[in-house]
Amino acid sequence: MKIAITGKGGAGKTTIAAHLGKILSEMNAVGKILLVDADATKNLSILLGYENITPINKIKDVVEGRARLENGLVNLRPRVSDLIDKFSVKILEKMSLIAIGGVEKAGMGCLCSENSILRAMLMEIVLKRNEISVIDMEAGLEIMSRGTVKGVDKILVVCEPGYGAVSVTKDIIKFANELKINADVVGNKVRNKEEEEYLSKNLNLELFYTIPASEEVRDATIKGTLVSEGKFYESVKELAEKIVSACET
Ligand SMILES: Nc1ncnc2c1ncn2[C@@H]1O[C@H](COP(=O)(O)OP(=O)(O)OP(=O)(O)O)[C@@H](O)[C@H]1O
Ligand SMILES: [Mg+2]
Repeated sequence: MKIAITGKGGAGKTTIAAHLGKILSEMNAVGKILLVDADATKNLSILLGYENITPINKIKDVVEGRARLENGLVNLRPRVSDLIDKFSVKILEKMSLIAIGGVEKAGMGCLCSENSILRAMLMEIVLKRNEISVIDMEAGLEIMSRGTVKGVDKILVVCEPGYGAVSVTKDIIKFANELKINADVVGNKVRNKEEEEYLSKNLNLELFYTIPASEEVRDATIKGTLVSEGKFYESVKELAEKIVSACET
């Protein structure tokens, strides 16, 4: 099962990814989890206490040795199959973390070496590996190859009430639709029924799940910890169960 989490900056992707990964790893019916930090800011790694981790697409030997060819050309199919076992860190009994880095904006058009490594890592994680993955992405799925996007079982677009998040979410859903794949929206930081309705009305769809606004989780993030009880925890647990049953059918 492969889950990719995307959405506007600050909507709650990293917070949800960390809790979802941990909760899935605690579920008996579910196997090993690979939490994937696919954001240049490494917030997921930092939240989990691994601020010194170097994302794979920033490891010089990897980038130069595998993606950079002579004459300034880029290898678009770098070998990366050994890198997950080499660079992932085990952080819980059933959960490991790997930081693969974020999109290098300047190179998006021509796919620079760093982006080539990132794209190949996403392909490897989604299409080749067996463990369950929860991928904390930046806003947008464009860095994934078409085949990789199609290999993801659940794309969750995290959206908080507000014009900006709604607009980014619409763009992501549109992109997913163009690829003929399904992306689900998770409403986050929702304070009441009106805000929930605001989201479904402005996005013109039914939300896959709604996570309430929670002071507890905000406080926990400031301290760099996760919550293990309370309304945020309980709702992510329910979200995890819903994803598992949706992916089974
Ligand atoms: N349900 C919630 N209730 C209240 N605060 C929340 C909730 N979910 C996330 N937050 C808070 O929102 C802030 C941003 O969350 P987070 O870093 O997870 O967002 P993000 O989408 O990963 O951001 P970025 O785009 O910068 O990676 C954090 O302070 C976090 O604690
Ligand atoms: Mg984040």
